[in-house]
Amino acid sequence: MAIRVSAIVAMSENNCIGKNNDLPWHIPEDLKRFKAVTMGKPIIMGRKTFESIVARLGRSLPGRANIVVSRSDFKAEGAIVCPDIETAIAQAKNLAEDQELDEVFIGGGAQIYGIALPYTDRIYLTKVHIDVDGDTFFPDLEKNWKEIANENFSGNPPFSIKTLERV
Ligand SMILES: NC(=O)c1ccc[n+]([C@@H]2O[C@H](COP(=O)([O-])OP(=O)(O)OC[C@H]3O[C@@H](n4cnc5c(N)ncnc54)[C@H](OP(=O)(O)O)[C@@H]3O)[C@@H](O)[C@H]2O)c1
Repeated sequence: MAIRVSAIVAMSENNCIGKNNDLPWHIPEDLKRFKAVTMGKPIIMGRKTFESIVARLGRSLPGRANIVVSRSDFKAEGAIVCPDIETAIAQAKNLAEDQELDEVFIGGGAQIYGIALPYTDRIYLTKVHIDVDGDTFFPDLEKNWKEIANENFSGNPPFSIKTLERV
Protein backbone atom coordinates (compact mmCIF):
# COMPACT_ATOMS: atom_id res chain seq x y z
CA MET A 1 0.00 0.00 0.00
CA ALA A 2 1.36 3.42 -0.92
CA ILE A 3 1.52 5.68 2.12
CA ARG A 4 0.59 9.28 1.38
CA VAL A 5 2.68 12.13 2.80
CA SER A 6 0.34 15.02 3.62
CA ALA A 7 1.20 18.46 4.96
CA ILE A 8 -1.35 20.19 7.15
CA VAL A 9 -1.10 23.95 7.55
CA ALA A 10 -3.07 27.10 8.28
CA MET A 11 -1.80 30.25 6.57
CA SER A 12 -2.96 33.82 6.07
CA GLU A 13 -3.51 35.50 2.71
CA ASN A 14 0.13 36.63 2.85
CA ASN A 15 1.30 33.05 3.63
CA CYS A 16 2.06 33.77 7.29
CA ILE A 17 1.94 30.69 9.55
CA GLY A 18 3.50 31.89 12.80
CA LYS A 19 4.46 34.66 15.15
CA ASN A 20 6.69 34.42 18.26
CA ASN A 21 6.80 30.61 17.92
CA ASP A 22 3.02 30.35 18.14
CA LEU A 23 0.04 30.51 15.80
CA PRO A 24 -0.95 34.11 14.89
CA TRP A 25 -4.69 33.43 15.47
CA HIS A 26 -7.01 31.32 17.57
CA ILE A 27 -9.50 29.41 15.42
CA PRO A 28 -11.02 26.59 17.52
CA GLU A 29 -12.78 25.01 14.49
CA ASP A 30 -9.43 24.69 12.73
CA LEU A 31 -7.75 23.15 15.78
CA LYS A 32 -10.62 20.63 15.95
CA ARG A 33 -10.14 19.81 12.30
CA PHE A 34 -6.36 19.45 12.77
CA LYS A 35 -7.06 16.95 15.54
CA ALA A 36 -9.67 15.02 13.54
CA VAL A 37 -7.55 14.80 10.38
CA THR A 38 -4.27 13.81 12.05
CA MET A 39 -5.54 11.64 14.93
CA GLY A 40 -3.93 8.21 15.05
CA LYS A 41 -1.41 9.00 12.31
CA PRO A 42 2.31 9.79 12.66
CA ILE A 43 3.09 13.51 12.50
CA ILE A 44 6.49 15.04 11.73
CA MET A 45 7.43 18.44 13.16
CA GLY A 46 10.42 20.70 13.47
CA ARG A 47 11.96 21.11 16.90
CA LYS A 48 10.52 24.64 17.26
CA THR A 49 6.96 23.59 16.41
CA PHE A 50 7.21 20.67 18.82
CA GLU A 51 8.34 23.02 21.58
CA SER A 52 5.48 25.41 20.82
CA ILE A 53 2.98 22.52 21.08
CA VAL A 54 4.47 21.41 24.40
CA ALA A 55 4.26 25.03 25.63
CA ARG A 56 0.59 25.11 24.63
CA LEU A 57 -0.58 21.61 25.69
CA GLY A 58 1.98 20.78 28.36
CA ARG A 59 2.82 17.60 26.40
CA SER A 60 3.29 16.09 22.93
CA LEU A 61 0.26 15.67 20.64
CA PRO A 62 -1.78 12.84 22.17
CA GLY A 63 -2.89 9.82 20.14
CA ARG A 64 -0.31 10.32 17.36
CA ALA A 65 3.34 9.32 16.99
CA ASN A 66 5.19 12.64 17.33
CA ILE A 67 8.33 12.65 15.18
CA VAL A 68 10.64 15.64 15.71
CA VAL A 69 13.34 16.73 13.28
CA SER A 70 16.43 18.28 14.89
CA ARG A 71 20.11 18.57 14.05
CA SER A 72 20.98 18.71 17.75
CA ASP A 73 20.80 16.00 20.41
CA PHE A 74 17.35 17.29 21.40
CA LYS A 75 15.56 14.92 23.77
CA ALA A 76 11.80 15.03 23.67
CA GLU A 77 9.48 13.27 26.06
CA GLY A 78 6.72 11.59 24.07
CA ALA A 79 8.49 11.98 20.72
CA ILE A 80 10.94 10.26 18.41
CA VAL A 81 13.77 12.59 17.32
CA CYS A 82 15.26 12.22 13.81
CA PRO A 83 18.33 14.01 12.39
CA ASP A 84 16.88 14.74 8.94
CA ILE A 85 13.59 14.78 7.04
CA GLU A 86 14.34 11.59 5.07
CA THR A 87 14.86 9.59 8.27
CA ALA A 88 11.73 11.16 9.78
CA ILE A 89 9.56 10.25 6.77
CA ALA A 90 10.97 6.71 6.65
CA GLN A 91 10.29 6.31 10.38
CA ALA A 92 6.74 7.70 10.01
CA LYS A 93 6.03 5.36 7.09
CA ASN A 94 7.35 2.34 9.02
CA LEU A 95 5.01 3.14 11.89
CA ALA A 96 2.11 3.68 9.46
CA GLU A 97 2.84 0.37 7.75
CA ASP A 98 2.90 -1.48 11.09
CA GLN A 99 -0.53 -0.01 11.91
CA GLU A 100 -1.94 -0.39 8.39
CA LEU A 101 -2.36 3.38 8.01
CA ASP A 102 -2.36 5.01 4.58
CA GLU A 103 -1.08 8.48 5.51
CA VAL A 104 1.57 10.34 7.49
CA PHE A 105 1.65 14.07 8.25
CA ILE A 106 4.04 16.96 7.94
CA GLY A 107 2.98 19.34 10.72
CA GLY A 108 5.40 22.22 10.12
CA GLY A 109 6.78 24.74 10.77
CA ALA A 110 8.17 26.67 7.86
CA GLN A 111 11.59 25.00 7.79
CA ILE A 112 10.09 21.52 7.88
CA TYR A 113 7.33 22.28 5.30
CA GLY A 114 10.15 23.54 3.05
CA ILE A 115 12.42 20.50 3.27
CA ALA A 116 9.44 18.08 3.16
CA LEU A 117 7.78 19.70 0.13
CA PRO A 118 9.54 17.50 -2.46
CA TYR A 119 8.11 14.44 -0.64
CA THR A 120 4.62 15.90 -0.07
CA ASP A 121 1.68 14.44 -2.05
CA ARG A 122 -1.22 16.37 -0.50
CA ILE A 123 -1.73 19.60 1.45
CA TYR A 124 -4.62 20.16 3.86
CA LEU A 125 -4.66 23.93 3.72
CA THR A 126 -6.63 26.28 5.91
CA LYS A 127 -6.52 29.68 4.26
CA VAL A 128 -7.23 32.37 6.84
CA HIS A 129 -8.62 35.39 5.02
CA ILE A 130 -6.56 38.10 6.71
CA ASP A 131 -3.06 39.52 6.25
CA VAL A 132 -0.84 38.90 9.26
CA ASP A 133 2.26 40.72 10.42
CA GLY A 134 4.06 37.55 11.59
CA ASP A 135 7.59 36.19 11.44
CA THR A 136 7.20 32.74 9.82
CA PHE A 137 5.90 32.06 6.31
CA PHE A 138 4.95 29.00 4.27
CA PRO A 139 7.44 28.42 1.44
CA ASP A 140 6.38 29.29 -2.11
CA LEU A 141 4.39 26.48 -3.70
CA GLU A 142 5.32 25.62 -7.22
CA LYS A 143 2.43 25.79 -9.68
CA ASN A 144 1.78 22.06 -10.03
CA TRP A 145 -0.86 21.74 -7.29
CA LYS A 146 -4.57 21.49 -7.89
CA GLU A 147 -7.38 22.23 -5.48
CA ILE A 148 -9.57 19.14 -5.08
CA ALA A 149 -11.78 20.43 -2.25
CA ASN A 150 -12.77 23.79 -0.76
CA GLU A 151 -15.18 24.73 2.02
CA ASN A 152 -15.71 28.34 3.14
CA PHE A 153 -16.36 29.28 6.77
CA SER A 154 -17.60 32.63 8.00
CA GLY A 155 -16.34 33.78 11.37
CA ASN A 156 -13.80 36.09 12.80
CA PRO A 157 -11.50 35.73 10.97
CA PRO A 158 -13.20 33.97 8.04
CA PHE A 159 -11.31 31.02 6.58
CA SER A 160 -11.51 28.31 3.91
CA ILE A 161 -10.44 24.70 4.24
CA LYS A 162 -8.92 23.35 1.04
CA THR A 163 -7.28 20.15 -0.10
CA LEU A 164 -4.50 20.41 -2.67
CA GLU A 165 -2.95 17.54 -4.57
CA ARG A 166 0.15 17.38 -6.67
CA VAL A 167 -0.78 17.09 -10.36
N1 LIG B 1 0.02 27.77 10.94
C1 LIG B 1 0.40 26.51 10.98
O1 LIG B 1 -0.27 25.61 10.45
C2 LIG B 1 1.67 26.14 11.68
C3 LIG B 1 2.07 24.79 11.79
C4 LIG B 1 3.27 24.50 12.44
C5 LIG B 1 4.04 25.53 12.98
N2 LIG B 1 3.61 26.81 12.86
C6 LIG B 1 4.41 27.92 13.39
O2 LIG B 1 5.68 27.91 12.72
C7 LIG B 1 6.65 28.49 13.61
C8 LIG B 1 7.83 27.52 13.74
O3 LIG B 1 8.37 27.27 12.45
P1 LIG B 1 9.95 27.39 12.17
O4 LIG B 1 10.15 27.31 10.69
O5 LIG B 1 10.50 28.57 12.91
O6 LIG B 1 10.56 26.12 12.91
P2 LIG B 1 10.31 24.51 12.72
O7 LIG B 1 10.31 24.17 11.27
O8 LIG B 1 9.15 24.09 13.54
O9 LIG B 1 11.61 23.93 13.45
C9 LIG B 1 12.89 24.35 13.04
C10 LIG B 1 13.90 23.38 13.61
O10 LIG B 1 13.82 22.12 12.91
C11 LIG B 1 15.13 21.57 12.80
N3 LIG B 1 15.51 21.51 11.39
C12 LIG B 1 15.24 22.39 10.40
N4 LIG B 1 15.78 22.00 9.22
C13 LIG B 1 16.41 20.83 9.49
C14 LIG B 1 17.15 19.93 8.67
N5 LIG B 1 17.38 20.16 7.36
N6 LIG B 1 17.66 18.82 9.26
C15 LIG B 1 17.47 18.57 10.60
N7 LIG B 1 16.76 19.41 11.40
C16 LIG B 1 16.25 20.52 10.86
C17 LIG B 1 16.07 22.50 13.57
O11 LIG B 1 16.06 22.06 14.90
P3 LIG B 1 17.38 22.22 15.87
O12 LIG B 1 17.57 23.71 16.01
O13 LIG B 1 17.00 21.54 17.13
O14 LIG B 1 18.50 21.55 15.13
C18 LIG B 1 15.34 23.84 13.44
O15 LIG B 1 15.72 24.78 14.43
C19 LIG B 1 5.93 28.74 14.93
O16 LIG B 1 5.48 30.09 14.96
C20 LIG B 1 4.73 27.81 14.85
O17 LIG B 1 3.66 28.23 15.66
C21 LIG B 1 2.44 27.14 12.23
